[in-house]
Amino acid sequence: MTVTTAIIPAAGWGTRMLPASFSVPKELLPVFDRPSIEWVVKEAIDAGIERIILVSGRGKSGLMDHFDRHPHLESILKKGGKEASIDAIVKRAQAAQFIEVRQGDARGLGHAVLCGAIGASDDRVAVLLPDDLYLGQHPALGDLIALSERYPDQGVIGLLEVPPDQSRKYGMVGGSWQEDHMVIDRLIEKPEPADAPSHFAITGRYILPSQVFDLLRHQDTGALGEIQLTDALQGLADNQGMLGVIPRAKRFDAGDPEGLLIAGLRCALDHGSKDVRARVRHELER
Ligand code: G1P
Repeated sequence: MTVTTAIIPAAGWGTRMLPASFSVPKELLPVFDRPSIEWVVKEAIDAGIERIILVSGRGKSGLMDHFDRHPHLESILKKGGKEASIDAIVKRAQAAQFIEVRQGDARGLGHAVLCGAIGASDDRVAVLLPDDLYLGQHPALGDLIALSERYPDQGVIGLLEVPPDQSRKYGMVGGSWQEDHMVIDRLIEKPEPADAPSHFAITGRYILPSQVFDLLRHQDTGALGEIQLTDALQGLADNQGMLGVIPRAKRFDAGDPEGLLIAGLRCALDHGSKDVRARVRHELER
């Protein structure tokens, strides 16, 4: 059985994106011609995911609406002869089965993932954090799934090499490299640079054996007083094993205004029409 279910935790307030995220969920802010979350969902679907569990919260129902049909708008588009726009709505809604779960209480990423457990019945589940946007030909999650197929009992996470002074922003890992992946033995959430086990950080891509839910159920609060997913991953590393891989796609920080802007330009250059690409290049060089 391969990995077909993904949890996307999207209940956060997006304080790094204020004021843009004051009344619009940060995941709906655009990256080129569509909300940033649509690129994350596209990556998941390109990697073979069929069911997406959106863990959302108050004020975030727009996320689910974005992946739903819109009969009223569709009838207006039909009258206007805009068949391509209707097709896009239908394709987006039918690309996967979308399920919304609410995280009533903001108790951390580990808690958000546990809220998603209700829709995850297979032996492995993918988790994608929408602040980490991976753009490129090879879906980042696909690189994790490929490694997970070789070691289906173990967890797999995406890794990113970061400068030492950035360790406080990430979960940091340590272990030994074997061929194309790291065998991870230590994971620490947001350590001081001196306490980071290596320069490799966890990026927001995970393939987790279902045992993670039991670990999370019994998990105490960790860094920042929250239930940290990283702490449960240490439990997986100690039991089943944890592996890390550096995805081939390029990573952008969509939880930060500059990162979102740069990702938008990258997408316009990669996915825009010939005219759009020429115009973006011209404007940037002017
Ligand atoms: C979360 C995880 C952290 C990871 C990061 C990647 O932190 O807790 O381990 O390195 O995502 O973006 P957050 O950015 O939600 O604080």
